[in-house]
Amino acid sequence: MGLGAATPAQPRAARATGDRPRPCCGCRCPAWLALVTATGALSVLLCALRRWQRGLDGAKLALFDQLFVLGFHLLRPLDGTRLGPGRGLEVEESLEGKVALVTGGTLGIGYYAAERFHAAGAHVIVSGRSASRCSEAAEFLREATGRGGRAEGLPLDLGCFDCVRNFSAALRGMFPRLDFMILNAGTSHAGDLADDDSAWLSPEGHSRVFQANHLGHFLLAVLLAPSLAPGGSVVVVGSSAMWMAHPSRLMLPKRNLTHNARHGDRWMRYGLGSYERSKLANRCFALSLRRRARARRVRVQGMTPGLVETRLTTGLEGDFARACVSPELAGLRLFECAFVSREFDFVAPHWQPPYVYRWDAPTTSPRWRRFRPRRPGTVFRAPALRESDGFPRRYNFEAPRKWLNRPQLHQRLDYSLHSATGPDCPDELQREFWRWSLEQVGLPASLDEGDIFAHTFT
Ligand SMILES: NC(=O)c1ccc[n+]([C@@H]2O[C@H](COP(=O)([O-])OP(=O)(O)OC[C@H]3O[C@@H](n4cnc5c(N)ncnc54)[C@H](OP(=O)(O)O)[C@@H]3O)[C@@H](O)[C@H]2O)c1
Repeated sequence: MGLGAATPAQPRAARATGDRPRPCCGCRCPAWLALVTATGALSVLLCALRRWQRGLDGAKLALFDQLFVLGFHLLRPLDGTRLGPGRGLEVEESLEGKVALVTGGTLGIGYYAAERFHAAGAHVIVSGRSASRCSEAAEFLREATGRGGRAEGLPLDLGCFDCVRNFSAALRGMFPRLDFMILNAGTSHAGDLADDDSAWLSPEGHSRVFQANHLGHFLLAVLLAPSLAPGGSVVVVGSSAMWMAHPSRLMLPKRNLTHNARHGDRWMRYGLGSYERSKLANRCFALSLRRRARARRVRVQGMTPGLVETRLTTGLEGDFARACVSPELAGLRLFECAFVSREFDFVAPHWQPPYVYRWDAPTTSPRWRRFRPRRPGTVFRAPALRESDGFPRRYNFEAPRKWLNRPQLHQRLDYSLHSATGPDCPDELQREFWRWSLEQVGLPASLDEGDIFAHTFT
């Protein structure tokens, strides 16, 4: 048999033409088989690694960290999720004449993001609840950057719908056009020290944390939408905590909230349950707003700043405290998010592979099934909590090594913007949540499918 002759093991087409099938690695198996085998082997390896990692302590954990860092550097060239010029991130150098609103711009991440806008020449409005902190922050901005743009501090309590209405009217009077809307303000605690419901529940009957973080921002964004200039940008600051919220609890009826308060459900009452819920709400809202904003050529991006050393994270200890980056750095990343030029599902300032959150998903547990939404279509990916962690009372804080990503390594290794994915937020849930939010803030239902950019609000 000559060299070019077909053997019986070759496919029919190859025998007919005399071509050889393309081997993957010198052997004769087809490339797809090799790929499937390699993927399977990698999954088994990662599963084994995770099981092993969960049982680690002390020196062994330190060794694991070293292996993690080594693996990170080896795999880094393969990571296509990092954003940069030509890869989904086009930061404009001069913002002269443009106007940026940064909610929660009096402190922390928001302040440093505002500083970036101002340093690039934009007029900047920073807001927070305290009037004195607002004017102080504006003063700091003027001193820090020395650029020509205006810097204004306007007080705004996002937990009060009337305050949001007054604020947006005042802002429209001062700046009829808005180029950047950075919805950053956030709180994780309310009424910690008080025993009565009013410390925890707003007069409208919502958790104060949820009302400030989501409903206030929702109302503000819809009221200011007509001022947003084509080519402008909205950034909604979320958090990885969204993975620990449950979509079936997104639109909690008020009855449940008061029940939780009365029965001392500390999880729902003292912040974290509401915080997580509000951060999932931020994600859901960002996706809905993005769909509506396309026609106006306004970009909308949901992001998380990761773990940052601010007032919000005071009291964090151990791995999570070590993971925190400075608010200056986080502010820079938040600023960059306004220039993300492609529509990414979600953006995070470090590599955030989806399996980190999804592999722990206790989807088959009866406990979770109990909380599943009844209506078809409102499906979701389950969050990172494990059943054994006793949902809904504990984060993974006490045992962070359950995560394959060691946060203090991840963020510290490469704190730059990466595209990531958030929990499932199907269209039906987005629509239902938008309608529900309109109702809660007292806006007309006609804004459900109507063009929010074409409305005139009084
Ligand atoms: N730090 C982190 O590790 C981390 C992680 C994930 C996500 N985030 C998110 O990042 C954002 C910024 O947080 P941060 O860490 O910079 O917190 P921060 O230092 O506590 O700053 C929060 C800002 O929000 C304002 N604010 C709080 N409650 C408000 C309300 N009811 N109405 C209006 N403004 C309000 C605060 O101003 P006043 O106090 O003057 O009202 C302040 O300017 C938040 O959305 C947070 O959820 C932070």
